[in-house]
This record gives sequence, C-alpha cells and structure tokens, in this order.
Amino acid sequence: MTSSDAISDAQDAAKRNLWLHFTRMSAYEDSDVPVIVRGSGAYVYDQHGKRYLDGLSGLFVSQVGHGRIEIAEAGARQAAELAYFPLWSYAHPKAIELAARLADLAPGDLNRVFFTTSGSEAVESAWKLAKQYFKLTGEPGRYKVLSRDIAYHGTSMGALAVTGLADIKHPFEPLVPGGVRVPNTNFYRAPGFVAGDEVDFGEWAAEEIERTILREGPQSVAAIFLEPVQNSGGCFPPPPGYFQRVREICDEYGVLLVSDEVICAFGRLGYYFGAQRYEYQPDIITFAKGVTSGYSPLGGMLVSDKLMEPFNAGTATFLHGVTFAGHPVSCAVALANLDIFEKEDLLGNVRANEAAFRSTLEKLYDLPIVGDVRGAGYFYGIEMVKDKVTRETFTDEESERLLRGFLSQALFDAGLVCRADDRGDPVIQLAPPLICGQEHFDEIEQILRSVLSEAWTRL
Ligand SMILES: Cc1ncc(COP(=O)(O)O)c(C=O)c1O
Repeated sequence: MTSSDAISDAQDAAKRNLWLHFTRMSAYEDSDVPVIVRGSGAYVYDQHGKRYLDGLSGLFVSQVGHGRIEIAEAGARQAAELAYFPLWSYAHPKAIELAARLADLAPGDLNRVFFTTSGSEAVESAWKLAKQYFKLTGEPGRYKVLSRDIAYHGTSMGALAVTGLADIKHPFEPLVPGGVRVPNTNFYRAPGFVAGDEVDFGEWAAEEIERTILREGPQSVAAIFLEPVQNSGGCFPPPPGYFQRVREICDEYGVLLVSDEVICAFGRLGYYFGAQRYEYQPDIITFAKGVTSGYSPLGGMLVSDKLMEPFNAGTATFLHGVTFAGHPVSCAVALANLDIFEKEDLLGNVRANEAAFRSTLEKLYDLPIVGDVRGAGYFYGIEMVKDKVTRETFTDEESERLLRGFLSQALFDAGLVCRADDRGDPVIQLAPPLICGQEHFDEIEQILRSVLSEAWTRL
C-alpha cells in the first residue's frame, strides 16, 4: 500500500467510524478530517507532513510542548513496573509521591489530593465532596452551586449543571438541580454604571454573588466554582480586589470557594496555581490538563485540611471514586512533567515573556475587527467586533458565516491551531505551550493579521 493509499483509507475510516467531540460531523462530508500525526516542541504535523504552530496547546494541555522523550520514558517505565492498581483502599508509590508534591506546590492548607481522570470528574468530585461534607457537619440543606455566566466547567451531568453555557445544556435537561448563575467578569461588556472603573466593576460582580446567596438562602448554598481567569467567553481576568471580596463573602455565608483551575493551573498564568497569582485561598482547587501536559490523562482536586477533617473520623467515607483515577502511568508522567517545569523554569519563562505576548497581540488593534485583547500569562482571548467604537457584535448569521464558515478553517490552513469560539461574543482563543517565546508570538500575530484582514473583507 502506498502512503497516499494509507492516508485515504484513514480518511474513510475517520469519516465512517470516529465521532469527534463538539463537532458537526456533516462538515466533513465534502472535506477531509484534519489528522494530526506527531508533535515536536510548539509544533504539530498533519498526515501530509504540514506543520502547524500549536497556539492552543492542544486544548490548553501541552504545557511543556510535544515530543518530550523523558516523559514518554517515565510512562513506559511505570507501565512495565506496575501498569495499574486502583486507589480504592490501596495506594501506589507514584500517587503518593505526586500527592505530596502537589500539596507542597499548592497554596495554604490544600494538603489532600483526590485524583480523577479528567476535569469534568474533578468538578463533579468537588461538588459531591461539598454536599457530603455539609451532610456530615450538620448542614444537610446546602447543595446548590454558584458559577458564572458562560463559564465552562465540563460536560458530565453534574459538571454540566455547573457550566454556564445554555446551548450545551438544553439537550440534556433536566439537569442536576442546584446550579445557579452569577455574572462573569467581562469588563469589556460591563454594565454601564460600572463600565468606567475596573475596581467598581469587580466590587459589583462580587456583590452580585452575595445578593445571589441571600436570594437563594445561604443555608442552601454549598459552593461557588470560579476559574482564576474565565476561559469561555474569551479570557476574563478578575478585576482587582474581586477574589478578596469573594473570599470574604464565602466566609461570611459558609460557602466553599472552589478554584476551577483545569486550565489555569500548571503555569498557564505563570504560577503553579492561578489562586497564587491573584492571592486568594480556595477551599478546593480542581485541576487536570496541564498536570501531565497531556502525555497521559489525569485530573483531581486539592482539598483543605478543614474539608478533610470530618472524613478522618470513625466510619466516615467519601463515597466516590473512579477506576482509572490516579493511574500509575499518569502519576509517573505528571512527576516527569513537573521535573521539566523545574529544570527549565517554565513559570519563569511565562512571567518573563507574558508582557511581550500581550504587546505582540495588541499590535492587532490596528485591524478594524479587533475589539478587545485580554488575558494573562500565556492565556489570551481576542474579541472580534463589527464596530470598534460602539463595540457592536455580530448577528448570529454573521457569526456563523465568519467563525464557522471562514475563520476556523482559514486559521488552520494558514498553519495556526487556535480556537474561534462563539459561545459568548465571538473570540479567538490562544494558549501556546509555556516553552514559547517571541518568535512564536510573532508567528501567531502574522497569521492572525492576515486571516483577520481577509475575514473583514468578507463581512
Ligand atoms: C475550567 C474547566 N473545568 C472543567 C473542564 C472539563 O475538563 P475535561 O474536558 O477534562 O473533562 C474544562 C475543560 O476544558 C475546563 O476548562
């Protein structure tokens, strides 16, 4: 069989047998499914050998970049020694070592690690822990969870009830009861009465959380889930003082603060955890993605001593678990991944270069379609608008034509993996591997400049 026959067979099988996630499969009736076959550093390669800059780290995952042999070897060694054993009643050395290392890196008294295999499971676990914790501590009425408009917290039924994106929830209703929305921190779209000042805006957004707790009844609210920088909607950083005020409100009403760091942990914002960058102390941190840089799946939650305490006595048991959580190969891979963070000072690299990343992206402000460039660390969103002065956004039809009809494919064809997303207002999302530097920022800027200029002429 020639290599072009093999490529064509793989295309046929991809179309016949594979179901892509969050993908309109009909889009591939008349075009090829993109097939990525290998990666090296900040780049990935398709089946034809074409190179792409991985401007999204896969899906906010590949912190150390692709093709790291030492991580692959750590996984292979572990598989040969002990491929699998459950964390149900047993421990294994790599889970112990990783839990201790994460506890060392985490802020404050987040000393206990409950592993999962994914971010959705981590969110699910945090909600279940909050519910059972309150049952054990004499407040059985607390079951509700607050989260922000348009925020994404995963797709399993519990996590979906925490997610704030109406469109991806509707087909699965009725959902787990208890999900309640509060405003997000999109300053670009702030309500008029607080649009002039970021501190006022942050205060208002935090006070909305208090008002919501009071409206729902404090004795019914278990937890609030917040990302340090909200991904969905296009990177909303917290206004100054926001998290400090939220912490006070949570303390006042006995609500647990969950920092959902499935994206923001492990260097994305230049710190091991986003809570460290913004100087707040969560009760739980949920993580996944970057903990292994994707060399093997792993997620989990870091829990405070306070939350663990009722589970340390007598017959108390957290009645929850999944087969592959804390998989030995994934734990070995995570340790090798964290070794690279240390050896190459990746947090230092992000902190040293984040201003350059921002200013390179801000050059795009001279394009009429670029309304807002926002984010932190190596995590940015570019909001596209029809009118920069009025900030008018696109109609659904224009958005469909622009994002799905042109931009996504054009950016990929031009050699950039990123995400054109219209779950909120239309944005392009960028999250390059943490090894990137100025030459990668320039490449991203040049591709965006050319494709966004073309997009404007098609409107
Ligand atoms: C903040 C946040 N929470 C939870 C999830 C769900 O993670 P997973 O896709 O691993 O289930 C994601 C995924 O992108 C996320 O960004």
